[in-house]
Amino acid sequence: MGVPAKKSFSYPIEAIRAGFPALHQDINGSPLTYLDNGASTQKPQVMIDAISQFYSHDYANVHRGIHSLSQRATDQFEAARETVRSFINAKVIEEVVFTTGTTDSINLIAASFGSAFIAKDDRILISEMEHHSNIVPWQILAERKGAHIDVIPVLENGELDLDVFHSRLSERTKIVAVTQVSNALGTINPIDEITLAAHKVGAKVVLDGAQSIAHMPVDMQALDCDFYVFSGHKIFGPTGIGVLYGKQALLEAMPPYRSGGDMIKTVSFSGTEYNVLPYKFEAGTPHIAGAIGLAAVMDYLSEIGMENIEAYEHDLLAYGTHEMNKIEGLRLIGTANNKAGILSFIIEGAHASDLGTLLDHQGVAIRVGHHCAMPVMEKFGLEATSRASLAMYNNRDDIDRLIAALQRSIAML
Ligand code: ALA
Repeated sequence: MGVPAKKSFSYPIEAIRAGFPALHQDINGSPLTYLDNGASTQKPQVMIDAISQFYSHDYANVHRGIHSLSQRATDQFEAARETVRSFINAKVIEEVVFTTGTTDSINLIAASFGSAFIAKDDRILISEMEHHSNIVPWQILAERKGAHIDVIPVLENGELDLDVFHSRLSERTKIVAVTQVSNALGTINPIDEITLAAHKVGAKVVLDGAQSIAHMPVDMQALDCDFYVFSGHKIFGPTGIGVLYGKQALLEAMPPYRSGGDMIKTVSFSGTEYNVLPYKFEAGTPHIAGAIGLAAVMDYLSEIGMENIEAYEHDLLAYGTHEMNKIEGLRLIGTANNKAGILSFIIEGAHASDLGTLLDHQGVAIRVGHHCAMPVMEKFGLEATSRASLAMYNNRDDIDRLIAALQRSIAML
């Protein structure tokens, strides 16, 4: 098979790359080739500027002060929430809760929804490809409530076994929690089919969007999931900020998770009244600058168009897959038909951590290890893979440098 032809659509790759200052540096004497976007993404100048502007001119606490700075900060913080709402097409801002990230969001759902709506012998269905963050909170909940975890297995190509998924659903299934894109394999899961089937038995659907939010358009109303979670730092935004989307009626029915500060309306020793949504779930001073930075990134991405980013990365993935398949002894782990830009691989005779170190010596940043997805590693009989993960600012030169560095490393090993 020949090299996949570059799709001819206009995508401002040079302008995009120019907007990410960290990409333009040498690492160990070679130009940086940043291919660890699954772990975290680099930051655009527009985001850095938005945060700098906020801290330099507009900073104060939110929802508390009558003074001008506090009002300015509150306006920007709430405008950021509206930007997130629009970016994910949630119906109303009440459905957009700021958290510290994906892990925090899932813990919130497990603790709050779980405490109110999960009972003994209920079943929680997750998949074998989940990140630990979408496994352990459910295990803790199940243990606490006497509920059970069921698992959707992964097929050899990295797709979910949907026959088993359907057979494991029952009227006792209360939650189906799956990732939209696997961080270890790149598989894009058939969320429509999963959501439809889960809703038929009355289960709520929790989608882990950590690996999808930066790579494809997401639309809460079209997805019809009950909860969707993601982290700001995986979508070129700041660390320490994330989002929990939840359908309004569900969030209304759920008890608070953390308490104190912003989640309170009135407190007295005879009884405390909680704040309205989304503040009921935002105890304490929020990560104001984080939300503002996240919104700046979302505005920037919307200008480029998430459909364009998706198409561009798809093209890059096809090229990367083709080039990797030419390397003798390299085996891709995760060859699903529908994949996002994750190239997880092993090389015969080479230890992943040695490979990662040798690539770093040549300026190439990838992740090696179990990717916090030990069950799926076990499924493939592996302790670790090497993983190159793509983002909107990577190009074919990055792939070429990765391949050349891999070939040099293999020769050394
Ligand atoms: N979950 C992140 C990853 O896949 C950290 O690398």
